[in-house]
Amino acid sequence: DAELVSKGEKTFKKCKSCHQVGEGAKSKTGPVLNNIIGASAGNVEGFRYSKAMKAAAADGLIWNETEMAAFLAKPKKYMKGTKMSFAGLKKDAEIDAVIAYLRSVSGR
Ligand code: HEM
Repeated sequence: DAELVSKGEKTFKKCKSCHQVGEGAKSKTGPVLNNIIGASAGNVEGFRYSKAMKAAAADGLIWNETEMAAFLAKPKKYMKGTKMSFAGLKKDAEIDAVIAYLRSVSGR
């Protein structure tokens, strides 16, 4: 719902130092996150992923809500060797909200 999406937009401020979304978004320290929910991991054109992310992609990782929630809670624990230097989101509510926000944004 709209309230959750707006909460998620606030939570996304924690991601913005590295990630962009929306029309005209570009990869920076991290890859563009347009349409990331339901997408294959490690698949943004031109972004240089870690070996760990490439291996997960080769194993068929899809960013569904379950995988995304686990990754965002503890990135380095979820994926040993990821180059995403982010401690993680502590609250389940923040994770749910940011996922709702990511669902709501696309580059189109
Ligand atoms: C990768 C989400 C915060 C840097 C990713 C991926 C997602 C994601 C879904 C995988 C993308 C893909 O498979 O194409 C988020 C969210 C954040 C956040 C929702 C905030 C809650 C950050 C921050 C940084 C960062 C703060 C930089 C300090 C990166 C990098 C990668 C990445 C470098 C590539 C990882 C690798 O190749 O191992 N992020 N991120 N992220 N993120 Fe983040």
